[in-house]
Amino acid sequence: MSFDNKVVLITGASSGIGAATAVAFARDGAEVVIVANETPTKLKKVQQDCAKVGKPPLIIKADVANDDDIQKIVKETIAKHKKLDVLVNNAGIVRLGTILDGKVTAIYDELIKVNVRAVVQLTTLAAPYLVKTKGNIVNVSSVSGITINNPEMGAYCTTKAALSHFSRATALELAPHGVRVNIVSPGPVYTDLLNNAGVSTTFEETSVTALNRISGPEEIADLIIFLASDKAKGITGSNYVSDNGMLLIK
Ligand SMILES: NC(=O)c1ccc[n+]([C@@H]2O[C@H](COP(=O)([O-])OP(=O)(O)OC[C@H]3O[C@@H](n4cnc5c(N)ncnc54)[C@H](OP(=O)(O)O)[C@@H]3O)[C@@H](O)[C@H]2O)c1
Repeated sequence: MSFDNKVVLITGASSGIGAATAVAFARDGAEVVIVANETPTKLKKVQQDCAKVGKPPLIIKADVANDDDIQKIVKETIAKHKKLDVLVNNAGIVRLGTILDGKVTAIYDELIKVNVRAVVQLTTLAAPYLVKTKGNIVNVSSVSGITINNPEMGAYCTTKAALSHFSRATALELAPHGVRVNIVSPGPVYTDLLNNAGVSTTFEETSVTALNRISGPEEIADLIIFLASDKAKGITGSNYVSDNGMLLIK
């Protein structure tokens, strides 16, 4: 698929699904903008990986939980490229806690800022530019927005369900302006997500799938690329699950 002359902004692009998505868009000719917060060295590595197959992306170090940083993301993207064609809201975190262990309120506040509020704010600031280009948005949710496989993940699941519903509301609002909005809901994917949450269990220990396999981040990147492309011109407000059949046996 060709994304020549298309500007693609990806949050959470320093590792995992976001990093694989950045490389995939670069390979298809896009001008990519990559955003993450904690580890600039990881962003530099992704920039180098993109440069091997396409144009080197613009790096923006920003905390999506911070209002000023969200403004900076849009400002620097437009300053460099003058337009925006695709927004991939991918940055996300996992935190564990339950009602009875007393942690749920604190982790809910942390999760909602990154997994939902950041998307709401970035969508608001990016929308005028996407309307101009008749661009599109892909939001990375989760099968956890559809089912709950562990009570400790309850707050995370709640934020992903909220993200999916916000995506549908956005799709409805922006459709008359020619802007599509879709959701990708991965099942288990080998990334740093659990490590970054300080969880010691592995994806193998926590996931049972019908196909008895766990995805690589490139599989999710392929789905994001498809939804962002003209091949998906009739698709909006849809939720594409890629979970190795996990929901079949839940
Ligand atoms: N892996 C899975 O099994 C799975 C399944 C379903 C859904 N997902 C979703 O997929 C998305 C990507 O996750 P992943 O699995 O690729 O995990 P990951 O490797 O941990 O990547 C998460 C990315 O988000 C960034 N990020 C986190 N907090 C941020 C903040 N406050 N500001 C800016 N960037 C931030 C991280 O960068 P920094 O740490 O450098 O800030 C990193 O680039 C998430 O939304 C996740 O919920 C993953």
